[in-house]
Amino acid sequence: MRVNCDVLSKKSLRTDMLCLPVFEDKHNDDHLDAVDRLLLGQIKQLIRDKQFSGKTGEQHFMIVFPKREFRYLLLLGLGKSKDFDLDKLRKSAGIAGQKAVSNKAASTAFLLPRQRLPKELSANNVGCAVVEGFNLGSYFFDKYKSGIDRHIKPKALTVLFAEQKQATGAKAGARNGLIVSDLQNYCRDLAGSPGNVVTPTYLANEARRLSRRFGLRVQVMGRPQIEKLKMGAFLAVAKGSAEPPYLIRIDYKPKAKARKRVVLVGKGITFDTGGITLKPGADMQEMKQDMTGAAVVLSTMAAISQIKPNLEVTGFIPTCENMPGSRAYRPGDVLTTSIGKTIEIISTDAEGRLLLADVLGYASKMKPDYLIDIATLTSAVIVALGYVGAAMLSTSEDLLTQFKKASEITGERVWQMPLWPEYEHAIKSPIADMKNSGGRPAGACVAATILKHFVGDVPWLHLDIAGMDLEHRGTEYTPKGASGYGVRLLTEVLRNL
Ligand code: BES
Ligand code: MN
Ligand code: ZN
Repeated sequence: MRVNCDVLSKKSLRTDMLCLPVFEDKHNDDHLDAVDRLLLGQIKQLIRDKQFSGKTGEQHFMIVFPKREFRYLLLLGLGKSKDFDLDKLRKSAGIAGQKAVSNKAASTAFLLPRQRLPKELSANNVGCAVVEGFNLGSYFFDKYKSGIDRHIKPKALTVLFAEQKQATGAKAGARNGLIVSDLQNYCRDLAGSPGNVVTPTYLANEARRLSRRFGLRVQVMGRPQIEKLKMGAFLAVAKGSAEPPYLIRIDYKPKAKARKRVVLVGKGITFDTGGITLKPGADMQEMKQDMTGAAVVLSTMAAISQIKPNLEVTGFIPTCENMPGSRAYRPGDVLTTSIGKTIEIISTDAEGRLLLADVLGYASKMKPDYLIDIATLTSAVIVALGYVGAAMLSTSEDLLTQFKKASEITGERVWQMPLWPEYEHAIKSPIADMKNSGGRPAGACVAATILKHFVGDVPWLHLDIAGMDLEHRGTEYTPKGASGYGVRLLTEVLRNL
C-alpha cells in the first residue's frame, strides 16, 4: 500500500473513497463544511435527520451520485471531542480499512477534522495511527480459500490535514505506521497459518528469508547445537515430535555505536497438544497459534531493521512442537536446563516455560541491558485479564514504565501482575530445584516466577499474551483470527529504550 500525507484540495479529494471522521459535539467544522458543500448539503441534512450524529464507532456509507471527486463517502463517528485519543482515531481508520475492502475501493483519503486536535496528538502520532488503523483494518486472510472471489487489498491511502505544516510533520509517522502495521499483518499471517504448514522448519526458513530481505544476521541452530548449549528442557519438549526443533537467533546492529543491548525471546511452539498431559479436544485447533511470541519477535526484528533504533537487538526463537509421541517427555521427568538448574515435570502441558527457561538462562549470560520475553504462556492470564490485555511481570521498574508508556501510544493494553516471593512455595519440588507447574492458583504469576530463576540480575520483563494472540469476535482494526498483538508494542518500546 502507498501512503501519503497532504492538505485538503480539489486534487487531494480525487480518490475512490473519502472518509470523514466527525466529532459528536463539533458539527461545525471547516472540513466537514467543505465536503458538505460538494454534496449540496447532504451531510448536514443527515445530521438534522438524526441519521448520523458522530457517536463513537458510528458509520454511514454513501455512494456519491452523480459521482464527484470521490465515488464513496464514509462518515465516521469520533465521539465526544474531550474523550478523543489516538486509539479512537486508529479505530475509525480501521473501519475505513474494512469498508475499503468490502467496497473494493483502491484509493482512500482520510480527512481529519479541521478543528484543532488535542495537543498530545502530534501530527506524527496522528499520521501513524491513521495508517496503522487503515492497514490493520483492511487485513484479510484468505490464502487458504480456494474460491476465485478473492478480496483485493487497497492500494493507496492519503491522510489529509488542515495545514501543510501538519502534513509534513505526519510523514515520518505515516511511514513508521506503514512499516509496523505491514509487519503486524505479516505476524497475523504467520500466527494464523495452520500447524501443518508452520512447522519449526518453516519458522526457521521464514527467519532466513526475512533476515536476507531486511539485512539482519541470522543463525539457525539445530538439535546438535541445542545439545551443545545443554538446553535439556527445550530438548525434552521437542522429543515427542517427529519435527526437529530449532533455536533461531537474529541480530540487528545499528550503524553507530549502540547505546544499549537488548535481547528478545519469543515462544515458538508450532502446535501445543499438551503432550502426555494431553489437552482436551475442545478448541485445541487454537494451539496452532502457540508460536505467536516467536512471530512477534520475528516481525519486530524486521520492523526495527527499517526503523533503525540505536540499539543492538538480538531475537531468540526456540521452536518445536509439543506432541505426545512414544519418545515424549513425561510427568515426573527431571530435566537439566542450560544454566544447570533442574526442573521436575508435573505437567507436560506447561512446556513454554521450559523453552524459555533454557533460552533466558543462556541470554542472561550475554549480560544484555534488557531482556524481554513474549509468550502465549498460561490460560491463567485469561482468567485474570480476559481477552483485553497482556500481563507484564518484571524485575525492572524501568522496563515496566517503558511498556506502560509504549502501550498508551500503540493502544495495546498491558497490566502489571506481581512476582511476590510467596509464589516460590508453589514450585517447591521434593526432588529437583523446582517444579514446572504450581497448579491453578495465580498460574500466570507462578509461571513467571519459574522464569525469574533463569534471568539472573539482568533487568527482565515477561509478557504473557495468551489472551491476546487470537481475536474471537473481530473489532475495528482487528479482524477475527490472529491479532498480531505485540508487534507495535515491542517496536515502540525498542524505539524509546
Ligand atoms: N499454550 C498454553 C497456554 C495457552 C492457553 C495459550 C490458552 C493460549 C490460550 C500453555 O502451554 C499451557 O498449556 N499452559 C498451561 C499450564 C498449566 C498446565 C500449568 C495452562 O495454562 O493451562
Ligand atoms: Mn501447553
Ligand atoms: Zn503452550
